[in-house]
Amino acid sequence: MKEINRLELVWPGKYDNEGNLKVDPPVSLPFQIVERVNESRATRTNRETAAPTLFDIWEQDQVSQATQGLFKSRLIWGDNKLVLGSLAKSLSGKIKFIYIDPPFAVGADFKIEVEVGDESIVKEASLIEEVAFRDTWGNGKETFVSMLFARLRLIHLLLADDGVIAVHIDWRLSAQVRMLLDEIFGSGNFVNEIVWRYGKMSNAHRRFPQNHDLILVFSKSESYFFSPVRQADSEYKNRFIRVVENNKIKYGAVKDSQDKLILGRARKIQNQLGRKLRDDDILFDFDNEFKTQDDVFYDISIIKGNADERLDYPTQKPEALIERLLAAFTNEGDLVADFFCGSGTTLATAEKMNRSWIGCDLGRFAIHTTRKRLMDIKDCRPFEILNLGNYERQHWSKVSFGDDIDGDGIVSYLEYLTFILKLYGATPTDTSGSIHGIKGSAFVHIGSVASPVTIKEIEESIREVSSKGGRELHVLGWEWEMGLIDTLVDFAKSKSVKLSAFQIPREVMEEEAARKGQVTFFELSYLEAAIEPGKKPREFVCSLEDFVIPNPELIPDEVRKRVKSWKDYIDYWAVDWDFQNDTFIPAWMDYRTKADRNLKTKTSAHAYPEPGEYKVMVKVVDIFGNDSSKIYHLKVK
Ligand SMILES: C[S@@+](CC[C@H](N)C(=O)[O-])C[C@H]1O[C@@H](n2cnc3c(N)ncnc32)[C@H](O)[C@@H]1O
Repeated sequence: MKEINRLELVWPGKYDNEGNLKVDPPVSLPFQIVERVNESRATRTNRETAAPTLFDIWEQDQVSQATQGLFKSRLIWGDNKLVLGSLAKSLSGKIKFIYIDPPFAVGADFKIEVEVGDESIVKEASLIEEVAFRDTWGNGKETFVSMLFARLRLIHLLLADDGVIAVHIDWRLSAQVRMLLDEIFGSGNFVNEIVWRYGKMSNAHRRFPQNHDLILVFSKSESYFFSPVRQADSEYKNRFIRVVENNKIKYGAVKDSQDKLILGRARKIQNQLGRKLRDDDILFDFDNEFKTQDDVFYDISIIKGNADERLDYPTQKPEALIERLLAAFTNEGDLVADFFCGSGTTLATAEKMNRSWIGCDLGRFAIHTTRKRLMDIKDCRPFEILNLGNYERQHWSKVSFGDDIDGDGIVSYLEYLTFILKLYGATPTDTSGSIHGIKGSAFVHIGSVASPVTIKEIEESIREVSSKGGRELHVLGWEWEMGLIDTLVDFAKSKSVKLSAFQIPREVMEEEAARKGQVTFFELSYLEAAIEPGKKPREFVCSLEDFVIPNPELIPDEVRKRVKSWKDYIDYWAVDWDFQNDTFIPAWMDYRTKADRNLKTKTSAHAYPEPGEYKVMVKVVDIFGNDSSKIYHLKVK
């Protein structure tokens, strides 16, 4: 046992038997850009010449990149531990301000209520309740603490020398988190303990009702950036709101008041003027009435039910709160990050304040909500949506089932299959062929973590099912070869086999979700679009023709009854008119928001500059946050 010579927080599993700190070395995986938003193919081609790899751009000066529009902000879908590790290579010491608001709940899941359809349905409150994210310390505070410790160490690496971290927390874990920050950043680098009084009604009877969160701020070094915030002083204004006229209080309106604030101010102005006050003299001019903001924020309320910014994402924080932090700790053009971004409050605020940003979350509702929120910002600069693709899955399978999953590591491969079959509710069978399990009367084939399910692979499975006298095949996959279902349905029919393909969701990799059995395998949706000539030469219009969710039983009866059209199942759709087998770059999109529930089913006309053969990719995100896409081949004369 090593000698204890400093104050620190210890939890089971922090040290090994020899007293060494147990930390996993950072894992660095390559990113995959899945979507480029607000960017045209032409600008992309220009930029690629300037920036050959994803993060090379950071070799230059960041302020000039931001002002030249070179740095693309990034929304990353994945576990932040892997994302932080993977960013370390290119962004160490580059991020100016990091805000995190990790889930610190009481054991319950955080639910999101998803609206279905347009105004006519929403009026009748058609909502589907889905899990947005899970409490990560359901198994005890120590699980939360060790989760956060690992992330904070990586965050420390990414912060610029003059950068600052702000951790949003409440009474449940503030003491523990403060100690983690002391240990990682050094207690000398403590900057602030901000009290955010959110003004929420509470009916506690045996204690004072809780009415604040804490934001713990630490810097990386002594020379961090801070700009004092001057705040309109609302105390006077609120007190005398009835006599405020043109944002001012005149002496005449309050001369009979015995309020101490008024008497004091009247005396002060009288001394300044050197004469008795007249009715027209101004006591308070709220256009100039400021005070320096202190560490108690009492003027920012929790997001109210009718607030414009409300997105119904659980635990969504107000933009005003983040705005104040960004105003104090950053400058225009700085890089800001939030690795538990939820509905994207930090990213949207940073975008509006002309800061570049990086956001990360593991929930598909979080990523989808954030994507729409950013798109809805007027003049939002181009940004990218990334993930760690099959690298994240391979890493997960290696950690969970051992090395070499698809080589001769037979044992780990079988463990992987058994794990997925169990979550799917199927029983393992002899795995010498392509069939891995059986569920009711259906045979089950499971795709590899490392590569998309191929047409050839399914053909083999269909043949095997047919030779065994089976009639049904379920294929579970992480990714799919393009056009797979359309190609295979007829082949399966010719062998008298009913083919269904199910998406393996990323929740499979979340320990809590798998443990609680909260993993839904959605059947791949059916999408049909038509591309027709427009009015002018080389002009085309794309319309959505049909969209089928194969598992309507996942939607509660009362909601399903109100659904009038296939359109109601769609939340967002977009078209890339010139898909080049790499990143999806939508040139047209439409989506539902709280304020506008309508969805167009026809794009505006797209004019091709040159004749040629093009691929048009249509992407739909349904109400469950699942993506479907289809490619159409188009000859332009
Ligand atoms: C309290 S919410 C953040 C809310 C956010 N501040 C807002 O204003 O919308 C916490 C978020 O952390 C995400 N999260 C939890 N564990 C994560 C992990 N390991 N990696 C990435 N995101 C995670 C959850 O999905 C959830 O969206």
